Amino acid sequence: MKQTFFITGTGTDVGKTVLTVLLAGFLRARGVPVAALKPVCSGGRDDARKLQESLGGALTLDEINPWHFRAAIAPVLAASRERKRVPLGPVFAHIRRLQKQFAVTLVEGAGGLLSPLGDGFDSRALLTALKATPVIVAANQLGVVNHLLLTLEALPPRLRSRAQVVLMAPPKPDAATASNARLLRQLAVPRIHTLPWLGAKVSIAAALQNPAVRRALAALTGSPENSRIPLTSPSQTQTPSDIPSRESSG
Ligand SMILES: Nc1ncnc2c1ncn2[C@@H]1O[C@H](COP(=O)(O)OP(=O)(O)O)[C@@H](O)[C@H]1O
Ligand SMILES: [Mg+2]
Repeated sequence: MKQTFFITGTGTDVGKTVLTVLLAGFLRARGVPVAALKPVCSGGRDDARKLQESLGGALTLDEINPWHFRAAIAPVLAASRERKRVPLGPVFAHIRRLQKQFAVTLVEGAGGLLSPLGDGFDSRALLTALKATPVIVAANQLGVVNHLLLTLEALPPRLRSRAQVVLMAPPKPDAATASNARLLRQLAVPRIHTLPWLGAKVSIAAALQNPAVRRALAALTGSPENSRIPLTSPSQTQTPSDIPSRESSG
């Protein structure tokens, strides 16, 4: 069955790209044909480059990120500075085209759920149109309960009931870090996953060997914790047709 995860969050810099890259590496290592897209970038294409690396060359930078603007401000403003536009229709159509080619499609938004993404639309509108599973990333520190409840509240009920929450550990835990997940469960927030701090220089390959990371990614994606296929380096590119589909490999 095809799946689309839309990786959004309570804001910017919360770990959306780190999570998307981890998910792509985790799924590839399990033989799942996966696309990771960052349709709209502003302030450079660093996120898109990280996603491209995580896919081992399965997609070009322009396929991962067709809309990119120089200014490090909301994409819709950055686009207007360059007299360009980002209409919902073409963004939706681009993602749809790639969804057809891959078993799992990961789409990273920009900023948080309601941050303007394009002409009159935000991540909520795009993920609703895509009927994607919302993945809400948030920094696991004091204040996150309110940020998460507000974000979940803003989702249409049909999608809220499927939302996955990822609490990303900060470099230094604060007084609330250890208890946030428990408190959220008490408040009936389902599907909460916690990811550890991965160090100042994140190594995705090392992180994917970490049992706590694997457990969280397995629970989020509904995949096995242990991989059958070793990760390939970018030079040993796997294309979707090289990788057995989930259905055919059982
Ligand atoms: N679990 C983590 N361990 C270590 N560094 C992290 C972790 N999560 C995020 N970071 C770092 O925090 C910064 C922001 O993360 P990023 O994934 O780019 O956020 P976003 O995509 O939400 O803007 C990056 O420098 C990233 O490497
Ligand atoms: Mg990002």
